Amino acid sequence: MCGIVAYVGSKEAYPIIIEGLKRLEYRGYDSAGVSILNGTMNTFKCKGKVTDLEQVIVKEKIKGTAGMGHTRWATHGVPNNINAHPHLSGDGNLAIVHNGIIENYGTLRTALEKLGHSFVSDTDTEVLIHLIEEIRNTNDLSLEEATRRALQKVVGAYAIVVLDANDPDKIVGAKKSSPLVFGLGDGEYFLASDASPIVKYTDKVIYLEDEEVITIHRNGDYEIRTIENELTDPEVQQIDLNIEELEKGGYEHYMLKEIYQQPQTIAESMRGRLSADEGWAKLGGMEQHLTRFKNAKRIILTACGTSWHAAMIAEYLFEEFARIPTEVEYASEFRYRNPIITPDDVIIALSQSGETADTLAAVKLAKSKGAFIYGIVNNVGSTIPRTTDSGSYIHAGPEIGVASTKAFTSQLTVLTLMAIILGHLKGKISEGYYRQLLSELESVPSLVAKILAKADQIKYIAGEIRNTSNALYLGRGYNFPVALEGALKLKEISYIHAEGYPAAEMKHGPIALIDMYMPVVVIATNKSAHEKIVSNIQEVKARKGIVVAIVTEGDTRIKEMADFTIEIPYIEEPLSPLLSVIPLQLLSYYIAVMRGCNVDQPRNLAKSVTVE
Ligand code: G6P
Repeated sequence: MCGIVAYVGSKEAYPIIIEGLKRLEYRGYDSAGVSILNGTMNTFKCKGKVTDLEQVIVKEKIKGTAGMGHTRWATHGVPNNINAHPHLSGDGNLAIVHNGIIENYGTLRTALEKLGHSFVSDTDTEVLIHLIEEIRNTNDLSLEEATRRALQKVVGAYAIVVLDANDPDKIVGAKKSSPLVFGLGDGEYFLASDASPIVKYTDKVIYLEDEEVITIHRNGDYEIRTIENELTDPEVQQIDLNIEELEKGGYEHYMLKEIYQQPQTIAESMRGRLSADEGWAKLGGMEQHLTRFKNAKRIILTACGTSWHAAMIAEYLFEEFARIPTEVEYASEFRYRNPIITPDDVIIALSQSGETADTLAAVKLAKSKGAFIYGIVNNVGSTIPRTTDSGSYIHAGPEIGVASTKAFTSQLTVLTLMAIILGHLKGKISEGYYRQLLSELESVPSLVAKILAKADQIKYIAGEIRNTSNALYLGRGYNFPVALEGALKLKEISYIHAEGYPAAEMKHGPIALIDMYMPVVVIATNKSAHEKIVSNIQEVKARKGIVVAIVTEGDTRIKEMADFTIEIPYIEEPLSPLLSVIPLQLLSYYIAVMRGCNVDQPRNLAKSVTVE
């Protein structure tokens, strides 16, 4: 993971870099560092967050108009001051920041040690800058040329920026598998892991492609070459992202803001895509490929984390509405097990960031086998949508809290729409039901707003169970993946051990854990199998478990049995995850805040997992 930002222009580089790093902290936050060029290479770095870095800076030494910074999520070497980036060459003249993993760093390091190089850190990154130094000095090459040649020897993933103390007018960057965006401002130029540090200054960007090396000169000249030394002709794109979207907007945490944004973000993900009144629904990305979807023998959804939970719900939706056999795969498993993929399969890759390394690798694998790949992604211009055959953006806007919330409901909205479109196209759902589903989908934003209005009640319940060490989440059918998502949210941000289970499976194991200290969150909104859920709740109560039930408004039966209930509005069952997940997001949020956890930056996690 890790976040990178670099600047060359007429302004002081340090404040721009620090601000950029704060925007990129979602990518990792175990250590941070900067290098500023002003005749010498001034490098400061430390374990901890960007605010910790600000404390160790010597103000006089960070004056300069070119530089770069890094916020780290450790892969090689524990997070400490030495392993923090930037890393320096042996002579101290070159510095590098890196996002990714150099897989063959051991071999390279041994070879370099034989040539007399010695290393101070445990990182793969330090090896790369020594390799660049070695190639440069041996062959008397420019920085970009040495970098290009060094990268030919590298196996692994990288987004890098390299600086030379003797050339403060130039920055060199390169990428493979990890993202790097070039921002073209007015007399100032940027490289960053995403556009968030750049949007304040320019909306003109170039997304670098894999194995490209960019050289940016202070006067604005730039050149992009492949590592095979072919000159490229990149397209300058305009990005549509405003700075307010990147701020907390008065909320205490990004996560809370993003939970509360859901009435708008769900509406955004449907905008222009359906009209229940007029009886139509369409997704631009599907339009060109309707025959392919209609004739699909199978749909395979692949994703990681929360996106995988959205994919699981889609399995129910596609099979129910469109009657197309559907499978869901963890991207990391899919890619390593030689999956059977035929030209009649449609592969759907889901990713908030559009950068998740395993999901991207799964896409590439499926592509190499000739499959048609559809991407459902939030982050516009990221790598996955640039790699897939077609797709739909979910338009949730930047999601900064590490625990995904609004992206999940927007993914679900788009997936539900896809399933409805396919069911209608294949004649598997009646015209009347089609219109009803569209109309109910259109009502989701206002129903979500109604649930958000119950925040105080949810906060109260959070206070009652906040001290637990374990929690169980149960759901059936459409709400089984919601139980998984609820448990994931709780463990991610509050560090309480939580497990999601199909309600009926409880008796095959987890029931052994239930006692008077165990909160059991039951998502009990289903109309189908309602009786069975009632029985499951009774089984929990018989063992003195604490039941927190999410029920449909007016369900007095469960209310009488449960210790706490949260009522949510009625909606057709296939659409119910869009509502039932909301109280679970708030419950986790309040519990984590009450336990003093950093909800936006939970320990050990990162939002964009660009390592395998
Ligand atoms: C990380 C994040 C999760 C996210 C998962 C998949 O684990 O912390 O919130 O669900 O990656 O990310 P993606 O961007 O592919 O949806």
